[in-house]
Amino acid sequence: MADSYIQNLFAERIGGKYYGKDTAIYKFEKIKRAKRAALAANPSAELIDMGVGEPDEMAFPNCVQKLAEESAKPENRIYADNGGSEYKAAAARWMKNVCGVEGIDPETEVMHSIGSKGALTVLPHCFINPGDVALMTTPGYPVYGTHSKYLGGTVYNLALTEKNNFLPDIDGIPADVVKKSKSLVINYPNNPTGASATPEFFAKVVAFAKKHNIIVIHDAAYAALVFEGRPLSFLATPGAKDIGVELHSMSKGFNMTGWRLGFVVGNPLIVKSYGDVKDNSDSGQFLAIQKACAFALDHPEITAEIAQKYSRRMDGIVGILNKHGFKAKKPKGSFFLYVPCPKAATGKDGKRTAFEKAEDFSQWLITNALIARCRGMMPARSCASV
Ligand SMILES: Cc1ncc(COP(=O)(O)O)c(C=O)c1O
Repeated sequence: MADSYIQNLFAERIGGKYYGKDTAIYKFEKIKRAKRAALAANPSAELIDMGVGEPDEMAFPNCVQKLAEESAKPENRIYADNGGSEYKAAAARWMKNVCGVEGIDPETEVMHSIGSKGALTVLPHCFINPGDVALMTTPGYPVYGTHSKYLGGTVYNLALTEKNNFLPDIDGIPADVVKKSKSLVINYPNNPTGASATPEFFAKVVAFAKKHNIIVIHDAAYAALVFEGRPLSFLATPGAKDIGVELHSMSKGFNMTGWRLGFVVGNPLIVKSYGDVKDNSDSGQFLAIQKACAFALDHPEITAEIAQKYSRRMDGIVGILNKHGFKAKKPKGSFFLYVPCPKAATGKDGKRTAFEKAEDFSQWLITNALIARCRGMMPARSCASV
């Protein structure tokens, strides 16, 4: 059948007239297909799925109860737009009480997001013109870079490796790239390496940003999930609020992925621009959700309990993996375990299989052991969410 004329209308950024015709199978689809095939071959077996960054439990009952109450109130039914002062105030309190960041003005330095993902799609519109460079880290969560490219920008990827403790080498960025760069996105605790930042690294980032007139976006989606001490906020770094914002999320730290709420906090001019573009992109998150999440932010013991659960699971899986010859190291936070893949493995049938890349091991693990884990992002590494 001939293509509909619609096929010729697609924008180049999503493939133009070739949109949807790419025969390369997207890696998540490969995982899905392998899972389906493994379950079809073992209908009575259970597949252990550690492949999705998704909490396995409900939001806490007191938060669900609060949501039910707020949902029934007529004043919460309207478009929230950029409003929701209860949530903004709770976010500023949470920054102080949990992260030790004082002096956040809830009205000018906080704005809600429809999850961190929403903020990462909006922020490039505030900064990226055609030809501008967005500095990103790899492996990593690509959304800000994808939208920067949609806008005609380019992405310069900074490698996260064991050698650099999974902290990007900002001194190694070529001068011509730095000159065209407007933004640097970093993420700690990091998806997928599980690495944490240090105050020294954050201080270096602030100095780099100020020297080269670059803004910094710290994606702190996993900030609250730390196994010891308090979360390390980028905004606790002297001077950070002059040049950057931090993105926080209710998703992982409060078991609220589907609730879709987070907040952008920090430099008031960046927050204002984010709010202006956001206002033209969405009409705000349901006020009942915002109010239930404000309640959650005032109960940091929820996150402490969730973090303890992941810490316990981490101890378990690190012990088992290391007993079997892997080199797993418990991270300081997040639910990611990033472990070198084996070069080869022997299946139940006695067959020895060699792996060229992490993706090969991932496929083998699904087929042979019914264990699904995160994408093989780097040739020799593999990650799983616990
Ligand atoms: C690094 C990182 N940033 C942002 C997000 C998006 O989180 P949210 O649910 O707040 O949109 C994720 C989700 O997996 C993530 O891993």
